Formats: sequence, structure tokens, C-alpha cells
Amino acid sequence: MQDVSESFDVERIVAETFVRSVEVHDEIGSTNDRALALAKNSEIGTPLLILAERQTGGRGRGANRWWSGPGSLTFSLVLSTSDWSLTSERSPVIALTAGLAVCETVRALLCKDSGSVIPPWMPGPPAHPSDVIVKWPNDVLIGRRKLCGILVEARAGLPRVVVGIGINVNNSLQDAPPELRGRAVSLVDVSSRPLDRGEVLIRALRQIEAGLERLRENREHLQQYWQEHCALAGCIVRIDTAAGPVVGRCIGIAEDGALLLQTERGTERILSGVVASYE
Ligand code: BTN
Repeated sequence: MQDVSESFDVERIVAETFVRSVEVHDEIGSTNDRALALAKNSEIGTPLLILAERQTGGRGRGANRWWSGPGSLTFSLVLSTSDWSLTSERSPVIALTAGLAVCETVRALLCKDSGSVIPPWMPGPPAHPSDVIVKWPNDVLIGRRKLCGILVEARAGLPRVVVGIGINVNNSLQDAPPELRGRAVSLVDVSSRPLDRGEVLIRALRQIEAGLERLRENREHLQQYWQEHCALAGCIVRIDTAAGPVVGRCIGIAEDGALLLQTERGTERILSGVVASYE
């Protein structure tokens, strides 16, 4: 591990957020893999933050990979399940809580920069701060473009949960693989100037802590936020689930993170699946 801590102010992260210790990597396969390995060590204090300047094997849900060019923000948090009343069954709601936190962080950052729009070289309509939304189950979008992906992982018998987050911050999509350019977005592309990744990180961590506290106290927060923050709200959605496709109108998100679809058969709860389309 090469010391690149000058690019992130580790002391400031520990002083200003709920994170107790930080590991910074210049290059690593996947911060989630590292976090899962460390999570097995009961001596390691939590919340622990694993940060990477560059991932060579960033993972997404299923077989997906996560592209993170130079300037992206990629990190994983190791959380104690008992400290936050979390269990692996709560993974869907943990991912949505983290998504809401990133969404609020980015909305606040872009509001300070009211000129933000999708730049002319990007195909598609312009986007504004209020277009920053959460797409169930684990994405944050600007308009219809992916800004952030979240991967929550837990292992049976391990009293820890790992929350991996990738945010496109200063990695312009101009440098991205062609197949991503029409589907993803980066903050540098919409705010026309590079952002301080350390600042983005600290703001996101504070929002994540606030969301986890709401979860722990069972304060209903998803239903309260979904209408304003959910990309699928009111849409006709097709979800590919393990049991086959489900099509219906999205009428909400339950407090356990299940997507609620009004289908021909009535209201169906979907806890996991891939959004195949939404209109
Ligand atoms: C997805 O879009 O399916 C989730 C992407 C999650 C990417 C982040 S980047 C930091 C952490 N380490 C990984 O290998 N994946 C997550």
C-alpha cells in the first residue's frame, strides 16, 4: 500500500465524521474486498473507512464491474451490525439509506453552483440539482445517468456489514469507455470545475451517519423521502427478479427497502431485482 494520504485529509475525516479509522490505498483491486477481509478481524474498530485512489477490480451488483477513472471517489465502510441495529436482511434498506445520503450531498453541492447542466458534448437533455435522484435499489442518477453505485455486502455469521460506494466526481465521462458515455455522468462534467473529493466524502459520510441513525431509531425515512427522491416513483417499471419479470406502477418504497409495484395481481413487494425499464 502506497501512502497517498496527502490527497485525502485523514485527520480531518476522523475529526469531522463518525469514521474511527481510515485506510488509504493508491491502488487496490476492490475496496469492498479489502473491507470484507478486514471485517473478519474482530480487533478492527469500526466504523472503518477504506479509500482507494484507483481500483483495478471495482465490483458492482451481480457480475457488473465498476469503472473508476482517475479522480473518482471510491470507498467502503465497515460498520458494526450491533452498533447500528443492522442485519444482512437489511441490506436493501442500507443501500437506499446510503443512496439518499449521496443524493442529498450532491444536491447540496450542486445548488451552490446553480449553473450546473449536462454539458453540450453529452447527448441527452440538460440536468439540474433537483434531477439528482435515487434509483432503487442502489444507484444515484442525475437525470437518467448514473452518478453513483452502491454495493452492500455481508457475510453469514460476521457481525459487520460493508457499504461500498463509488461516486463519479472528477473522472470526466469524456475519458470513460465509450459504452458508458451515454449512461453515466460525473460531477466534474455538470459543475464545470473539479470538486474537492475530500469535501464530497466528508459531506457524504455525515449524511450516511444521519441516515443510519434514522434507521437505528426506526424513524420512518424512506416513505417520507421516496416521492421526492425516487427515480421510479409513479413510473411503469419492469423488474427482472429471480422468479421472473414483474411489471407494474411504482407506488412506493416500504420501510424495509422493498419496491412496491401496483400490478394486475395487486400490490407486489420486490426486495431484489434488476430494473429492466421504467417509463
Ligand atoms: C453497482 O453499481 O452495481 C454498485 C457499484 C459499487 C462500486 C463501489 S466502488 C467502491 C466499492 N468497491 C467495489 O469494488 N465496489 C464498490
